[in-house]
Amino acid sequence: MKNKFKPISISLSPNVEKDDVLLALNLLIRPWKWKQGKEIKILENEFANYLGVKYAVSFNSGRSSLYAILKALSASPEQSRGEGEGLKSGDNVLLQAFTCNASINPALWLALNPIYVDCNQENFNMDIDDLKKKIIINKNSRVLIIQHTFGLPANMKEIVEIAENNNLILIEDCAHSLGASYNGKLTGTFGKAGFFSFSRDKVISCVYGGLAVTNDSSLAKKLLQLQDKFGQPNLFWIMQQLLHPILLYFIILPVYNFFNLGKIFLIFSQITHILSKAVHWKEKQGEMPDYFPKALPNALAILALNQFSKLDKFYNHRKKLFDYYLEKLKNTKFVLPETPQGYKPSYLRFTVRHPNAHKIIYDAWHKENILLGDWYTTPIAPFDTNLKKMHYKEESCLNAEILAETTLNLPTHINITEKDAERIIEFLKKYESNGN
Ligand SMILES: Cc1ncc(COP(=O)(O)O)c(C=O)c1O
Repeated sequence: MKNKFKPISISLSPNVEKDDVLLALNLLIRPWKWKQGKEIKILENEFANYLGVKYAVSFNSGRSSLYAILKALSASPEQSRGEGEGLKSGDNVLLQAFTCNASINPALWLALNPIYVDCNQENFNMDIDDLKKKIIINKNSRVLIIQHTFGLPANMKEIVEIAENNNLILIEDCAHSLGASYNGKLTGTFGKAGFFSFSRDKVISCVYGGLAVTNDSSLAKKLLQLQDKFGQPNLFWIMQQLLHPILLYFIILPVYNFFNLGKIFLIFSQITHILSKAVHWKEKQGEMPDYFPKALPNALAILALNQFSKLDKFYNHRKKLFDYYLEKLKNTKFVLPETPQGYKPSYLRFTVRHPNAHKIIYDAWHKENILLGDWYTTPIAPFDTNLKKMHYKEESCLNAEILAETTLNLPTHINITEKDAERIIEFLKKYESNGN
């Protein structure tokens, strides 16, 4: 029977199923498995095989993975400046606005200079014309980071050409796009390197985790050295992550709306550090918390492997819901996502545009107990990120700023049932028929 206190939610550990929770419980009482174990290598090998790349090196987040890639590409202190040498502080990194601070901070932590390229209003990915302009304006651009926003691949044919013609190191941000492909080639396999995220709201999740991938053997060697040098997070941090699915599944979600008990418990757990937050306050100021950059602990590799084994099941479910939303929202005021031929998305979220997006999200929550997605309400999320510290100049990426006001996302994850999807559509249609 449906629990009426449990919200329909796009967030709050969306991928966690009973077997994941039981696995986390099992690990909680086996601390000797938390750090050391064979599963780290198994995950890395399975992942590399799946992508068809030579090397996959795990870290405790997408953030740490990107940091490791940029660090591995950096010049050694004794190197002097010259063509083709490593990255140096102050070098420009081109990346898109309409993202989260987790994809900017690794560059800032290495004293690199983010240059924001605007995104496209239609597909939320980097705008190619603006990219060309920014390359001309910013002469010493060395790196191009391409985000496959919400799981829709970017136009990799054009991007690879642009990167090659301008001597830019191409890195793919595949935090949203595990399983997505462009003309039959999986995202993460186009550039010098790519990285994936297994954080709580991603395609698969182990609360905190990620991987850097590459076919370049000298880059891979440096990544492995960095994995070793960073070391693993401490036992308390690992425990926080193991508790996350357990507390959410058994305590927080079932009573989330019962006089807000679940919500209060979640906030209490985060204040008392029983659970970790997805974003540390320091990151909103461009600073680095002490648990980054780190290697992936074995316990989280075990959770990630379990989720990875369900990738096809998750994908089919996401696609089914995506198609359902698409069908039901046809001929409404919602501007719907388009999937051009040759693009296979991961369907992480179903993102639509509507002039009253923020009001819809607010009403869905306050009137219907439906938590819709608000990725992203500012050009660099979350909303309280210090944009100056991110080197973002207001009005420099107008499309990103417009989208921040006009997008909302619908959930496609495995815990959304057909009935839930029906309720979401019912609410959106009712909203429309009331003349909104
Ligand atoms: C687009 C994008 N890039 C990078 C990241 C960083 O991943 P992680 O949360 O695993 O550090 C995230 C998620 O936070 C993201 O959404």
